[in-house]
Formats: sequence, structure tokens, C-alpha cells
Amino acid sequence: MLSGKAKIAGVIGWPVEHSLSPRLHHYWLERMGIDGSYVPLAVRPEDLADTIKALSKMGFAGVNLTIPHKEAVIPLLDEIDETARIIGAVNTIIVTKEGKLKGTNTDAYGFMENIRQKAVISNKGKAVVLGAGGAAKAVVKALADEGFAQIVVVNRTLKKAQKIASLFTAAVSAAPWEERSSQLAGADLLVNTTSLGLNGKESLEIDLTALPAKAIVNDIVYVPLETELLQWAKARGNVTVDGLGMLIYQAVPAFEAWFGRKPQVTDELRRHLQGG
Ligand code: ATR
Repeated sequence: MLSGKAKIAGVIGWPVEHSLSPRLHHYWLERMGIDGSYVPLAVRPEDLADTIKALSKMGFAGVNLTIPHKEAVIPLLDEIDETARIIGAVNTIIVTKEGKLKGTNTDAYGFMENIRQKAVISNKGKAVVLGAGGAAKAVVKALADEGFAQIVVVNRTLKKAQKIASLFTAAVSAAPWEERSSQLAGADLLVNTTSLGLNGKESLEIDLTALPAKAIVNDIVYVPLETELLQWAKARGNVTVDGLGMLIYQAVPAFEAWFGRKPQVTDELRRHLQGG
């Protein structure tokens, strides 16, 4: 039950109806008996500035941003942290006691924590990242912070991969889409950040033969939970990590900042989110 002192957060998107975040945050709010709520806010791009300005006036603890607002929101904030600056996108706003809007990006944390919880990263040599969209930037940031020696971004549009590489140190390089199978030689980690393999989209065509058997394979697509890539990787003995955990873990620091307590990630929560 909400009192008049309830803390309120939400997710701003256009459209927003497919977001799993209200279901996720409400699971934690209810389990933890917190006096708070998390609401979906369908906001058109042309109304974003007014909405963001109103957040502190309306007493919001903060919000998440989703498509198409993650980049557009940046000039509307009082400050953004280094992670959000490098990724060039904000997925979380925290409203401070003084009413200031602080932007951060918890996707890199969510990605890395998901891998850490499901696999042992014993070698931080080569990582291959497929795709060069917003999600890829967060993944590359996380891998660079984690200390991977070589990170290769493989993308259909080579220029976009080169742009990401230019944001980082020499450890990050770009490769054309034709090299997606051959680049797997010597890799310790393979991550798919493209939309290929997502329900209703084209499949990801890749030959895993060159990938060492000890490599970890992660798909950030989580509908379906076990993508073809993960099925192939599992069949040949690779450790696989699905993408649902990234969604869950990116929400942990945001929830803690808004509601004051760190939530737990459990298998029951995973089942709850898959429950439609
Ligand atoms: P997000 O921000 O969620 O990462 P995005 O910016 O739309 O999403 O990126 C989608 C990624 O999937 C891109 O890397 C895209 O490649 P391009 O940069 O060349 O567009 C990749 N992608 C989508 N369809 C693809 C296809 N048929 N073949 C290869 N890559 C594809």
C-alpha cells in the first residue's frame, strides 16, 4: 500500500508498453515491503524536455529512460557521470535532495554483473562484440573497465564499429561483418549485441568452429531466452549466459539509489519476468 510519502520512480519511453521494468521494480517493491511505486510513462519525443523539467517538481526519486530518449535526454540534465558520457546515453536519472538531475548509465554494470554471476571469467584476453549500436557501447565500456586486453567490435556497418573503437584505447578495434566467424579464433568471450536472433528478426549466421571451447558466449537478446547462438554454443561445450540477467542487473543500482535498499536477483524473479 502506498502512503502519502511514497517514493515514485518510473520509465520514460515512446512507446513504453513493452517495457519489463515496471514488472521488475514492482516485484522488488512488493517483496521488500517498500512504500514506493514505479510507473510506465509514455512520453513523445517533443514532450521530453517538459517532462524531465517536471520530475523534481513532482517529487520523483528518478526515472529510467528507454527508446528513443536515452541520448536526447543528456542536454536536459544537470550532470552526467563518466560512464554515461562515454556511452553517450543515459538510462537512469537520479533526482538529488536539492532537486538536481543526475544521469548515469547502468547498462555496462548490468552486462558485466550478469556475466560474473553466471560464469567464471578466467581469461581476459580477447573479447569479440557483434554489433555497434547503443548496447554495444555499454558492453565495450564494461569490457574495457574489466581489463580485457583485446576487444574487437564486428559490425555490418564498419564505420559504426570504428566510431566505437575511437572512443576507447588501442585495446578496442573494429572489424567488418565478413570476419565475424574468423575473429572468434583465440577469443575468451563472444557477445551478440545485434538484433539478429530476436523473435521475429533474421537469424544470426555465424560459424563457431574457430571459437575455443573454453570461451564464454553471451547474447543480450532475451526473447527468446535461449537464442540459436546460445544453443549452438552450448552444444559445443561453451559456457553460455542469456540476456535476461543484463536487464535485471542494470536495474539494481537504480533501485538502490531511488528506494534506498539493494534488491536481490533470484531465479524466482527470472521466472516472474518470463511469465508474460
Ligand atoms: P541497440 O541500440 O539496441 O544496440 P541498434 O542501434 O538498432 O540497437 O543496433 C542494432 C545492431 O544490429 C547494429 O549493430 C546493426 O548493424 P548496423 O550498424 O550495420 O545497422 C545490427 N544489425 C541489425 N540487422 C542486421 C543484419 N541483418 N545483419 C547484420 N547486422 C545487423
